[in-house]
Amino acid sequence: MNMAESYYDKFSRVYDLLSPDWYYRKPRKFAIQALALGEGQTVLNLPCGTGQNFRYFQQYLNGSGKIVGVDLSSGMLQKARGKIASNGWDNISLFKDDATKVDESWVQHHLGEGVKFDAILCDLGLSGFPEWRNVIDNLLPLLRPGGRFVIMDWYIEQPGLRAEFIKWIGGGEVDRQLYQYLAERVDSFQLEDSFKGGDVFVAFGKKPK
Ligand SMILES: C[S@@+](CC[C@H](N)C(=O)[O-])C[C@H]1O[C@@H](n2cnc3c(N)ncnc32)[C@H](O)[C@@H]1O
Repeated sequence: MNMAESYYDKFSRVYDLLSPDWYYRKPRKFAIQALALGEGQTVLNLPCGTGQNFRYFQQYLNGSGKIVGVDLSSGMLQKARGKIASNGWDNISLFKDDATKVDESWVQHHLGEGVKFDAILCDLGLSGFPEWRNVIDNLLPLLRPGGRFVIMDWYIEQPGLRAEFIKWIGGGEVDRQLYQYLAERVDSFQLEDSFKGGDVFVAFGKKPK
């Protein structure tokens, strides 16, 4: 088990208390709307954490289609499984894996030949993944042409004490140029950076056809 995994396994016990649904509700709802999900569609959520997004995905999918959640921490996934069981959702598959492993051959192995997603959501993950550029590069080919790639995360250009606190709590670097990197790789790029006093953004675009 690597350090991140054991850290997040411990964090999973209190994650929904320290990072409750209401805290990110506005950007989360905005991000999930930007996925433009319709019934029967497929969405990849990486990292899925304790599954806080699932109930919002279901507002668009109504139990149809497929939600694929990937996370490094079995503790986080256990919490997500609890939400799945208590809601009786049967359109969600969870996988324990490192974000850097999720690429075309991963999808072929776990989900089948030629499977493509309609949408991908990376929320509060890329700021914590050491190889975040590789993760974005590996994920974009997993979308069907025109599929949506959405990032919800922190961006503080000049980090100060607050950024140190956020890093201490969640393990993320808040000054990574995540959306700038995405902007160069998608069509119809859009950015909304007004959440949490301008420190949390939602950025999205479409995979080029
Ligand atoms: C701040 S939480 C965000 C979870 C969820 N997206 C949310 O918004 O509630 C960060 C998550 O990233 C996961 N994680 C950290 N490093 C990872 C990696 N290398 N690969 C996959 N997941 C990872 C952690 O286990 C944790 O669940």
